[in-house]
This record gives sequence, C-alpha cells and structure tokens, in this order.
Amino acid sequence: MKKKLSRNAKKIDQFLIKFLKRQKSLLVEPMKYGVISGGKKIRSTIIYDTGKIFNVEEKKLLNICAAVECIHSYSLIHDDLPCMDDDIIRRGKPSAHIKFGEASAVLAGNCLLTLAFEIIADKKYLINSSMKNEIIRSLAKCSGHTGIAGGQELDLKFENKKKNINQVIDMQIKKTGKLFSFCLYAVGVIAKRSNKEKFFLSSLGDEIGLLFQLADDFLDKKGSKKLIGKPVKKDSKKGKSTLLSLMGEKKAYSYAYNLKKKILRKLENHGKKANELINTIEFILERQF
Ligand code: IPE
Ligand code: IPE
Ligand code: MG
Ligand code: MG
Ligand code: MG
Repeated sequence: MKKKLSRNAKKIDQFLIKFLKRQKSLLVEPMKYGVISGGKKIRSTIIYDTGKIFNVEEKKLLNICAAVECIHSYSLIHDDLPCMDDDIIRRGKPSAHIKFGEASAVLAGNCLLTLAFEIIADKKYLINSSMKNEIIRSLAKCSGHTGIAGGQELDLKFENKKKNINQVIDMQIKKTGKLFSFCLYAVGVIAKRSNKEKFFLSSLGDEIGLLFQLADDFLDKKGSKKLIGKPVKKDSKKGKSTLLSLMGEKKAYSYAYNLKKKILRKLENHGKKANELINTIEFILERQF
C-alpha cells in the first residue's frame, strides 16, 4: 500500500510542480508548501482505484487527482488556523500559518481552492466540455457550504455541545465524505456511467469518507504523532463531537467495522476489478498514518 501511495503521490506532485511553473506570484511558495508536502494522497489513490473498475486510463484522471489534492490541502491549511483547530504541526512540519503567517496561509488556501478549478478547466485537459462542466459542478458542491466548508462550520459549532449520532454523521460526511464522494463520482462521469450508477458511486464515496474520518478520529486518540505527522489527543481537549466521543471506543470501532463491511459488500458485484479499491478501503481502517 505504501508503494502504491508513494507512486501516486509522485505523479501528482510532478503534475502540480509543472502546472505551478507556468504561474508566478508571491503565493506560489506557500501554495506549494501546502500541497506538495507529503500527504498520503489517499483521495487520488481512490480515484485511480475506481478508474480500474471502469477501465479508465490513468492519464484521464490526473487532473482530477491534482484538483482534489489542491482542495484537500486548502482545507487542511484553513483547518489548522488559530480560528479553527489551532494546530501548529501538519505533515510533520510547521503548519502553513506558522511558516508564512496567517494572512498568507488564508490566501494560499484560497488560491489552492481556485487552482483546483483551473486545473480541471485547463485547455490541455482533454475531456469534452460537458464532462468538464459536470465535474466542476460536483466539485463546487462537494467543497462549498454543502460539503467541506459546511461540514467544517458544523464541526466548530459542535465543539463542547451534546449532539446526536445522526448530527455527527451528517457533519463528518460533509467535512470529509463529500470530497471522497466527488472522487468516485468524477470517475463515473469520465467512464460515462448512468445517473443511477453515478448516484451509487457518490453515496459509496460518502461512506468511504466517513470511514476515513472515523479512522482519523481513532488515530487522534491512539495514534503516534511521529507517524501521522500531526498533534494527537487534540479532539478531546477541544471538545470535538465525534462518534468516538459520543459512543465510546468499543461502539465506535464496531460501527467502523460494520461500515467497512457494508462498503465492501457494495463492491462485490464488480469482481476482481474492485480489488485495488478494496485494498485501499482495508488500509483506511488499519492504517497507522
Ligand atoms: C486529514 O486527511 C484530514 C481529514 C480529512 C481527516 P489526510 O489524512 O488525508 O491528510 P494527508 O493529506 O495525508 O496529510
Ligand atoms: C479535518 O478534520 C477535516 C477537513 C475537512 C480539513 P480534522 O480536523 O480531524 O483533521 P486533522 O486531524 O486536523 O487532520
Ligand atoms: Mg478540524
Ligand atoms: Mg484539525
Ligand atoms: Mg483529526
């Protein structure tokens, strides 16, 4: 798995370096610091894995991967700001606002968000324009107030509040699930699947994202700071509403295992073609980083 992740990471980093070479501004440095900085690139890996199910060539997916990593990295830069989770370490290095100051971090985050759309709309990205339009619309919805940003708002509003399971699931699907949902949906668009299948892919993505956030919450409690490259044991200090805090460890783990089983069951009728995606889903829950 490590090999697969680092192979994908390399490809996407190279694409981003090349793309940003065409561009000059003071913000390029903090943008690069935020996005070409050693993340796992798990979302890109899921895009490639899903591509395998539908026989989509990797080169048709590269721009989608790069765009998703830009959005994800923007969300992390902002997530670490003092007004949000107030974390000073990310990916084993000082968070962007520690390195460049808050204003530059906010602006570099904004620029990574818009760069994502530029990367998909790029002339050199050779997919037809109605597909591009559908992908852009979905990416906007999954990133904005009905997706990441909306979920982050709820995450902060839920601190030190008593929330129920459905409220926490809704928040986690928005802040994390929706970008995973986009990853699967976008492959469905490129593979010219039916609306019904694209809907199936979107909801599968929601669930994979929820599983990913559960694992992230487990790692906050049990993981090693060194391996995950960010502070641990912060969620309980900040009074974050998570399934872990709500249900306790035992129930939260069993919820996660059942969710994983549900996801894997949904992939059964894709046979061997889904093997890569299945491996990645197994990794999501077992990972130490
Ligand atoms: C961390 O995401 C934030 C969440 C949405 C849980 P990742 O664990 O994918 O972060 P990187 O990209 O590998 O650093
Ligand atoms: C972040 O969730 C979700 C985002 C959309 C950025 P967390 O706040 O738990 O992510 P980490 O633990 O700081 O990476
Ligand atoms: Mg957060
Ligand atoms: Mg955080
Ligand atoms: Mg976390």
